[in-house]
Amino acid sequence: MAKAAPPAPDETVPVSRLDRMPYLGVLTYPSPDLAEARSRIEQLTRLGIREVTFGGRTRIGRLGLVGIGTVGVVVRGTTAAGEVCAVKIRRTDANRGSMAEEFRLTRLANRVMIGAPAYGATKDAMSMRYLKGVELEDYVKAASGRGTAARVRRLAHLLLNQCRKLDLIGLDHGELSNLRKHVIVEGETPWMIDFESASQRRAPRNVTTAAQYLFVGSSASSRIRRVLSIGGTGEIIVALRRYKGDASDESYVRFLGTFGVKT
Ligand SMILES: Nc1ncnc2c1ncn2[C@@H]1O[C@H](COP(=O)(O)OP(=O)(O)O)[C@@H](O)[C@H]1O
Ligand SMILES: [Mg+2]
Repeated sequence: MAKAAPPAPDETVPVSRLDRMPYLGVLTYPSPDLAEARSRIEQLTRLGIREVTFGGRTRIGRLGLVGIGTVGVVVRGTTAAGEVCAVKIRRTDANRGSMAEEFRLTRLANRVMIGAPAYGATKDAMSMRYLKGVELEDYVKAASGRGTAARVRRLAHLLLNQCRKLDLIGLDHGELSNLRKHVIVEGETPWMIDFESASQRRAPRNVTTAAQYLFVGSSASSRIRRVLSIGGTGEIIVALRRYKGDASDESYVRFLGTFGVKT
């Protein structure tokens, strides 16, 4: 089973050798399958990946991973040119048969400079930029001292601007109610990840959903409100309701004002 544990020592393995245990157990998680693994080795090779490095806080057995979700396990890959990327490998028990749609939707977001840039995909794998960062909540918790409010406000503003852009292009991320799992903060820049539940067929609710998490009801929101000296949620909720009603620039700007962004 996958579980969080102290970081395992990094282990780098050529892609061609992933057909043996324990690597096979990650490549075809959750049930080792040799025929499937061989197909996946070929797919990773097609994506230009030469080596995979197992390392990170998530673990399957003794092997570390970058992360794991219900659709994929994510590891670090290296190309022949030595470039590092993140590789999302479809779980064999995922509720979707291919990475194609996630790749398409990620690329759509990438066109407006949002989401970890996706490089390529096959049926069972997608390569993208490896983000070396922290979860939003950890960023907020770690922020202290002089300039904290300005940094947290700026981060929220950057993230909400990304949400606004996605709202405008009609792409609903679909999982921003749990921002903790879907944003990685690299330096001072938030990056959205995981467009596997995204859709162009729903009314987009990126701004309202992310704002709800940031300011109203999540494990991080009371701290964020305190840091930004936001007295209560009333004004924010009214502004969000208005934004939800007309999705206009004016409503968006007015909402930004509720957490101190001057435009
Ligand atoms: N590009 C990336 N860079 C760094 N870490 C990533 C990247 N993409 C995903 N991760 C990590 O892997 C985890 C699982 O990826 P995710 O895309 O959310 O999978 P799922 O669709 O199965 O939920 C994430 O929570 C995150 O920790
Ligand atoms: Mg996920």
